[in-house]
Amino acid sequence: MRRAKISVIGAGNVGATCAHWAAAKELGDVVLLDIPDKEGVAKGKALDLSCCGPMERFDANIHGTADYADTAGSDVVIVTAGLPRKPGMSRDDLIGTNVKIVRSVTEQVAKHSPDSIMILVSNPLDAMVYTAWKSSGFPTSQIVGQAGCLDVARYRAFLAMKLGCSVEDISALLLGGHGDDMVPLPRYTSVHGIPVSQLLSEAEITECVNRAKVGGGEIVKLMGTSAYYAPASGSVQMAESIIKDKKRILPCAAFCDSEYGVGGYFVGVPCILGSAGVEKVIEIDLDETERALMDESISHVKDLVGTVTEMFPDLA
Ligand code: NAI
Ligand code: 2OP
Repeated sequence: MRRAKISVIGAGNVGATCAHWAAAKELGDVVLLDIPDKEGVAKGKALDLSCCGPMERFDANIHGTADYADTAGSDVVIVTAGLPRKPGMSRDDLIGTNVKIVRSVTEQVAKHSPDSIMILVSNPLDAMVYTAWKSSGFPTSQIVGQAGCLDVARYRAFLAMKLGCSVEDISALLLGGHGDDMVPLPRYTSVHGIPVSQLLSEAEITECVNRAKVGGGEIVKLMGTSAYYAPASGSVQMAESIIKDKKRILPCAAFCDSEYGVGGYFVGVPCILGSAGVEKVIEIDLDETERALMDESISHVKDLVGTVTEMFPDLA
């Protein structure tokens, strides 16, 4: 049987950690690509990871490169290329630089791996998914953004810390844009089937929601750069569902037209991820408060895309 091929663009913190999780889970062979100036870093990290195989017991060819020809025929491409946040910066501050980077990267991906599913990670995520869609010419089902898996994992982790229970038993759902823009849904949060509202007060749940919203910023302040273990874990969770055609329901930035009344933008929603990429967006009932928060989040996504098209009119 042919092994799956996963290319990771950007061999920095998130990219190298994606390569690490993907190899450790034996999802397939991994290509780690960076710019020519950082070819040595991509090659060095790939070689270092390859030497973990005998100890961690995984079989995966891990190849570092600066040449897109090596990524040809990828099943999944995870795009992490771009600047990360520094203290005091918002994700949106990265827009000008990262649009240029993501644009050049996704044009190359489309050329070399036209049938791949592209998972966007670079920030500001909601704008980068749009940029990738426009510059690759891919159908919307082949483009998806990672934000929800990370945001919901943070929320689940903080709930588990508060409850003193296993993270495995917490099931939760979020909608909307990344981080500060996410739409919490405590009504759809349960602990081994028990509604979370029976176990924690409203104030305690809100505390966990708020910490998840600014979870990325909390880590930027601590480390001076942005998080990478959990972001990479979220990206690889998505890649796994696609490569193994698991059809998991995961919160991802997916293209919504009539869904949630979005009208043609990529927004964080629960969707089924399988070998064809985003196979279905799942619509859930929202109450008035949740609907208002979702509308606010959609409006921020539209503003972000508006900024992209003002700066780069040919992406409109
Ligand atoms: P990093 O600085 O460690 O790595 C970025 C890498 O991209 C560098 O190695 C750089 O050389 C490479 N790169 C730049 N231009 C490139 C190009 N044209 N082609 C190929 N590679 C290129 O940054 P880190 O921490 O890995 O973050 C990467 C991106 O992911 C940032 O934009 C960050 O904000 C975003 N991020 C998104 C998250 C999410 O949940 N969506 C979570 C964490 C980070
Ligand atoms: C995060 O949420 C910075 O988007 C990145 O950690």
